Amino acid sequence: MIRAIVRKGELMYGDELVGFLDAWDGVMDRRTIPLNVSSLRGMLPKGGTLLGTRRGSPYDHDGGPERVQATFRQMDLDALLVIGGNGSLSVACKLHHDLGLPIIGVPKTIDNDVVGTDMTFGFNTAVQIATDAIDRLHTTAESHDRVMVVEVMGRHSGWIATYAGIAGGATVILIPEEPFDIDKVCELLRSRHERGRYASIVVVAEGAEPKDATMRSRVKVYDQFGHVRLGGIAETIANVIEERTGFETRMVLLGHIQRGGTPTAFDRVLSTRYGVAAIDAVHEASWGHMVALRGDVVTTTPLTDTVGKTRPVDMHLYHEVAEVFFG
Ligand code: F6P
Repeated sequence: MIRAIVRKGELMYGDELVGFLDAWDGVMDRRTIPLNVSSLRGMLPKGGTLLGTRRGSPYDHDGGPERVQATFRQMDLDALLVIGGNGSLSVACKLHHDLGLPIIGVPKTIDNDVVGTDMTFGFNTAVQIATDAIDRLHTTAESHDRVMVVEVMGRHSGWIATYAGIAGGATVILIPEEPFDIDKVCELLRSRHERGRYASIVVVAEGAEPKDATMRSRVKVYDQFGHVRLGGIAETIANVIEERTGFETRMVLLGHIQRGGTPTAFDRVLSTRYGVAAIDAVHEASWGHMVALRGDVVTTTPLTDTVGKTRPVDMHLYHEVAEVFFG
């Protein structure tokens, strides 16, 4: 992504580019590194971000937005590209509308839950990691005749769970969009056992919730920014499955492994296309927009259309495709 922005910006538009370190913190404090074609050699297969990232927003600080504005003034910035998920893009939109700052968004989150684009970059890589893990878990589940409950990321949307569950042949997939009935899950597992299938994989998104009164819900823990810190539903589900069915059950929490390592070829291509489109959007002065994938076309869409929403999983894919393989 950054490599593509810099390549086209520097070589085709003659731009001078800098990267702000540690997300909004670096913008408020004017902590930057120069970005140019030669300093970015070898970046393509690297995951993560060379700029560092942080939760939080200028709106969490007294005078934070004004510090961002001062950065624009003092550094004589022509544009700011904000790369991130729903949180970062909402802040980008607000700063653009409140202060008239020339900002373009780029949708990046493994959760794939940004409204206005068919895909965020990072998602495909996370799905591949989760699928590889599920493939491995099949082997051990079959050797031991066990139920394995695999928890993947996805706070509000079950995209990773649905894709990795389909790709990995899950017995059942539990997603935040649809509260689950644990008794139905147990029933599926029992009927599978009756058919002589003793190994099962239950894929659960971290944000999945039980239907009222079917199972105890998680204890909610919040981080310093007031975001609920998820992770752990798989353990509760695994315990309840074992209690109610008597089948030996284990759980695996994939956690941040899904956000690490090298990106897939698909994500490298997508982020390259997004980077090129983002620097073009700067030169077209498409302020207050983000780049987006629609079908196979990279286009731009107003940030206002994405703010305050999360993109739910495609329920047709969940019910009409994934569910065919449940049980
Ligand atoms: O928002 C992306 C995401 O990967 C979520 O799926 C996950 O719940 C969250 O980040 C984890 O956040 P942190 O890295 O702050 O624990």
